[in-house]
Amino acid sequence: MDFKGKTVLVTGGGAGIGQDLVMRFAELGARLVVLERDAERVEALGRALATTEARHLLLHTDVTSAEQLDQAFTSIGEQCASLDVLVNNVGDSLQIFKPLEDCSDDDFDRLYAVNLGQVLQVTRRAIPLLRRHGFEQASIVNIASIEGFRGIPYLSAYAAFKAALGGFTKSLALELAAARIRVNQIAPETTDTAQVPVSNFIHPEYRERVGDWIPLGRFGEVRDMSNAVLFLASDQASWITGTTLHVDGGALAAGGWYRTPQGGWTLAPVIERSGFIY
Ligand SMILES: NC(=O)c1ccc[n+]([C@@H]2O[C@H](COP(=O)([O-])OP(=O)(O)OC[C@H]3O[C@@H](n4cnc5c(N)ncnc54)[C@H](O)[C@@H]3O)[C@@H](O)[C@H]2O)c1
Repeated sequence: MDFKGKTVLVTGGGAGIGQDLVMRFAELGARLVVLERDAERVEALGRALATTEARHLLLHTDVTSAEQLDQAFTSIGEQCASLDVLVNNVGDSLQIFKPLEDCSDDDFDRLYAVNLGQVLQVTRRAIPLLRRHGFEQASIVNIASIEGFRGIPYLSAYAAFKAALGGFTKSLALELAAARIRVNQIAPETTDTAQVPVSNFIHPEYRERVGDWIPLGRFGEVRDMSNAVLFLASDQASWITGTTLHVDGGALAAGGWYRTPQGGWTLAPVIERSGFIY
């Protein structure tokens, strides 16, 4: 894959999946535009990218703030003639794990803002620049979640907003096809990142038995996600739009099926606890 001469915007490029994406796009020749809320992560990213050739634009921006987005896109418009790729990577459960009836208005507002509202706001501002893409096609890749495709108790609002990204991805793909802008998404299962550090999140006993619920027998790594995003953003996916790539080690295919300690399959729970540390 080759992104030489392409300008790639990644939201939340300072940690986790976004950070790996930034580094890999840069290695493949892209110029990066990053919108990241954490100032220290912006600085660290600047240092990590210092050896690459392109003149990257790293902006300290909270994508849930319309005012900060306006300022950021003014700078982007001044410094970039166009965009070729947009990765809407930011999203967060905000550790709001509780029954829906216990959620406050503020919980709903914050979950909406970071998982869906900002994706609409960022994408709307990016489209005029994407329409001016300098290559055969441009590409938008959204980062949804497996939780948008199966139920997860106590994360109903988060799951609803992640599920909504699927509708957004399909409809926008139709809107932008004539402009040769493809729109797709990936849906990750549990991936070891700053937000979901597997060692703090999953009971040790459950971690050892990851193969019981993820058929390919391990948690996701940021590289698994960036591989999928790079593919969808690249020319190799030139006839793919409006779709979801599930990057989940087979977890969605397994549905409610689990491995038994004896190596068979069961629909009954194989451990007593939820498995999560929350
Ligand atoms: N890690 C997982 O298991 C997992 C599973 C399913 C989906 N996802 C999705 O993958 C995406 C990336 O997740 P991750 O685990 O790499 O996250 P992460 O928290 O490790 O990294 C996200 C980065 O985005 C930045 N960020 C957060 N809010 C921001 C905001 N409002 N404005 C600008 N920057 C902001 C953070 O500072 C951080 O640098 C998210 O959309 C998440 O919902 C992750």
